[in-house]
Amino acid sequence: MDVLRIEGNGPLKGTVSASGAKNAVLPIFAACLLTAEECTIENVPDLSDVRFMGEILKALGASVKRVSPGVWKIKAEQIGHVAPYELVRKMRASICVMGPLVGRLRRARVSMPGGCVIGQRPIDLHLKGLARLGCKIGIHGGYVEVDGSAIHGDYVFLGGRQGPTVTGSENMIMTAVLTPGVTRIESAACEPEVQDMCEMLVKMGAKIEGIGSHYLKITGVEALGGCTHRVVPDRIEAGTLMVAGAITGGDVTVENVIPGHMRSLIDKLEECGVTCEPDPVKQKIRVIGDKPRKSVDIVTLPHPGFPTDLQAQMCALMAVTPGLSIVTERIYPNRFMHVPELQRMGADIAIEGPSAIIHGVEGLSGAPVMASDLRASAALVLAGLAASGETWVQRIYHLDRGYDRLDVKLRALGATIDRMPVESMPVSYIDE
Ligand code: EPU
Repeated sequence: MDVLRIEGNGPLKGTVSASGAKNAVLPIFAACLLTAEECTIENVPDLSDVRFMGEILKALGASVKRVSPGVWKIKAEQIGHVAPYELVRKMRASICVMGPLVGRLRRARVSMPGGCVIGQRPIDLHLKGLARLGCKIGIHGGYVEVDGSAIHGDYVFLGGRQGPTVTGSENMIMTAVLTPGVTRIESAACEPEVQDMCEMLVKMGAKIEGIGSHYLKITGVEALGGCTHRVVPDRIEAGTLMVAGAITGGDVTVENVIPGHMRSLIDKLEECGVTCEPDPVKQKIRVIGDKPRKSVDIVTLPHPGFPTDLQAQMCALMAVTPGLSIVTERIYPNRFMHVPELQRMGADIAIEGPSAIIHGVEGLSGAPVMASDLRASAALVLAGLAASGETWVQRIYHLDRGYDRLDVKLRALGATIDRMPVESMPVSYIDE
C-alpha cells in the first residue's frame, strides 16, 4: 500500500490539465450496454473506478478494451442481466448498470449497494422511477430484481429530500431511451456529467429533449447504435487543482476545463479574494492567490449550486483563511470525515449539525493523517501543501479511485509530494 508524503513549500506555479470526468465516464461506460454495436470512448481518465467499471461490464458479457491511453472500446453484443454482489459492493456507482439493463433486456438483477462512509445513500428514487414506468420491483437476498416486461413511458418525478438524484436520473434516462412511448422526467439532475451522458445517448440515436434542464422528455426508440464520444473535463478535479493554487498563494492555470461548469467555485474563490481568470474559448482558468484571503460561507447544493464534491477541499482552504466560515452540507449532511484529520493538523473546526464552523488559523502543521473517502483525501493533500513540515496521507487508494495521478500533476506545479510504500513512513505513524 502506498502513502503520500507532502512538504508544504510555498506557492504552486504553472499549468496543469484536468482529465476526463470520473462521474461522467462511469455512466457513459454503463450506457454502452444499451447497444450491441461498438462504442469508442475518448478522454477516459486513468482511475481505479474506471478500470473497475470495465470489469463490471466484462462480467456482464461485454468486450472492454483500453486501446490507447485515454481511449476505450466497448462492445456489448450479448449481455447478461445479473450484476453480482462481489462486484457492486466495491463501487456504489456500479448501480448505474441497472438502467441500461432494464432498457435493453427488460430485466435486471443488481446487488443493492451497501453503506457508504459519506452518509446514507439510498436508491429509493431509482426504484420509484422504474416502478412508474410499469416495472415490477422486488428485493430478495440483497438483490434488486426488476421485471420490465410491461414497461411503458410515463411521468416520473425524481426530486428527493436533497433535491434531484444524479445516478438515479442517469438510470432513469438510460431505461427510458429504449422504453416504448414518451417518458417525462421532472426534477431530473442537470449536473454536467448527466448532460454529457445524454449527449452520448443522442449520438447513439436516443431522442432526448431538455438536456441540461430539470425537465427531460424522452421518446423511446427501438434500438441504439454505436458512437464515438469524448468525456467532458472533470470539474471536480479542475476545482481541486484551482484550490491548490489558492491555498498555496500560487499562480496556477488549469487547462481542459469548461469555465461554465466552474461558476459556483469561481464565485466563492473571488469572494474569498482569489483572482480567477476564466478563458471559455481556450477552456482554461488561471487562479492567482497572491492577495490576503477572507473567509466565506458555503452551502452545497445540486448543480448549478456549489458541489458537495468540492466541500472538503474548501474546508481545507477556509481552515487557513482568516475569519469565520460556515460550510453547510445539504447533499450529504454527515460528509465531514476530513474534519477530524484537519484538526490533527491544527485546524479550528467544529461540526454543528450539517455545518462545519471554521475559524481560520495562521498555519497548519504537517501530521500523519488518514484518508477516509475520495474528496476527504483531496482535502488532506491540499492541507498538506499549505502546512509547515511533513504530512503523510495514508489510505490513498481512495484518492486513486477518482484522481488521475494528482500527485504527479501537483509535482509538476512545484509541490513537494512523493508517493512511497507505507513502509517508508516513520514506524510510529503507520496505521495498523
Ligand atoms: N438520494 C435519495 N434517494 C435516492 C438517491 C439519492 O434520497 O434514491 C439522496 C442521497 O442520499 C443524497 C442526494 O439524494 O443525499 C443526492 O444523491 P445522488 O443520487 O445525486 O448521488 P449519487 O448519484 O449517488 C453522484 C456522484 C457523487 C456526488 C453526488 C452528488 C457519481 C458516480 N457520484 O452520486 O460523487 O457526490 O452525485 O453530486 O456520479 C464523488 O465523486 O466523490 C461522489 C461522491
